[in-house]
Amino acid sequence: MTDIAIIGGCGHVGLPLGLAFARAGKRVVAVDTSAERVHEAGSGRMPFDDEGTDELLPQVLASGHFRCTTDPSAIREAENVITVIGTPLDDHLNPRFEVYQDLIDEDRSHLRDGQLLILRSTVYPGTTARMAKALEREGFDIDVAFCPERVAEGFALKEIVSLPQIVSGCSERAQRRAEQLFSCLTPRLIPLEPLAAELAKLYNNSWRYIQFAVANQFYMIANDYGIDFYKVRQAMTEGYPRAAGFPRAGFAAGPCLFKDTMQLSCFNNNALFLGHAAMLVNEGLPHYVVKRAASRHELSKMTAGILGMTFKADSDDARDSLSFKLKKSLQVECREVLCSDPFLEDPTFVSLEEILTRADILFIGAPHTVYRTTDFRGKPVIDIWNATPGGTTVI
Ligand SMILES: NC(=O)c1ccc[n+]([C@@H]2O[C@H](COP(=O)([O-])OP(=O)(O)OC[C@H]3O[C@@H](n4cnc5c(N)ncnc54)[C@H](O)[C@@H]3O)[C@@H](O)[C@H]2O)c1
Repeated sequence: MTDIAIIGGCGHVGLPLGLAFARAGKRVVAVDTSAERVHEAGSGRMPFDDEGTDELLPQVLASGHFRCTTDPSAIREAENVITVIGTPLDDHLNPRFEVYQDLIDEDRSHLRDGQLLILRSTVYPGTTARMAKALEREGFDIDVAFCPERVAEGFALKEIVSLPQIVSGCSERAQRRAEQLFSCLTPRLIPLEPLAAELAKLYNNSWRYIQFAVANQFYMIANDYGIDFYKVRQAMTEGYPRAAGFPRAGFAAGPCLFKDTMQLSCFNNNALFLGHAAMLVNEGLPHYVVKRAASRHELSKMTAGILGMTFKADSDDARDSLSFKLKKSLQVECREVLCSDPFLEDPTFVSLEEILTRADILFIGAPHTVYRTTDFRGKPVIDIWNATPGGTTVI
């Protein structure tokens, strides 16, 4: 008997979650449609970076607490089923409602009465209740709960046990069972009704996205007046607790924040004005940077280099990274654009050494730690993050 089957169990959320449960003594099977990820994880190699997982994965494989498979029939053996498949937007920024219906259709034959089904993906509000009703309509006696993932990517293993867990069941029994399961990870549980829990998760991400937009807008205002935003930020925050946590400027990207702000907007009849304003500011920043750089440098005669193509510092995840938008804008203005990232293997990228040799002007796309000590050889560095010692923050 398996304690937990995780559908999407080799993804950025699913794999660290499975490892954390296995470390806590549960028998876990990760079910994933990606044969490549299943093969990699099953061989003891992490398909992506997440602090502490490289050591833990081989341990729990060896102890028999964790295994991976592409075979969905493994779902049937489990007492608890957790789904963490991706929930992307469609081409028109609408949530894709069919994601979870598809999952029921695909995996229905593998679900069975008596199981606890936990939705862990970030979902459009109401999805959990709809899922419970759909299963009931199909004649299943399955408890359904929503327990959102709130970790920061790259630190999942640490945060799964350090953050409180929001736990919301569609019935008292579902609530009790979900609380019991998550109490092996942390004693800090936050019980909530499913719709409130779905909103809490979307609010967490939208709040963060809007905060980044505030910093980015303030950056652009200061910059337009030739003022160093980071001096203003320092003055705002130093010894002033009410401004604690005020973010740096930078490209607010990645697979979650923008997507979830748009999910919330859609839920609110497309009237999340702050969210839409945040989108305009955050998504407009790469173009702003290029236009400002073009006003100071003769970009048409220059080779530009982008340092850092992932969506955040010291990460190997390039999903929805705004560095690629920066690249497109620069390609319009510059003679040539080179890209480099120490965390990504891409045949179109060049090494740090090559970019430092060939580029006439450098742009920090992601504030990797290595750039704090890189010798930029006197070349202009456009650094809206303030991530390099000598970089230009005013452009
Ligand atoms: N990445 C994060 O840090 C993070 C944090 C909190 C919440 N979330 C949310 O978690 C969800 C998953 O995000 P992610 O970053 O792990 O995505 P991901 O793409 O890394 O992982 C999803 C996995 O699901 C697998 N998959 C897709 N359809 C499947 C199916 N029908 N059966 C089995 N496996 C299937 C994919 O192969 C993939 O390995 C999203 O809703 C996201 O918004 C992500």
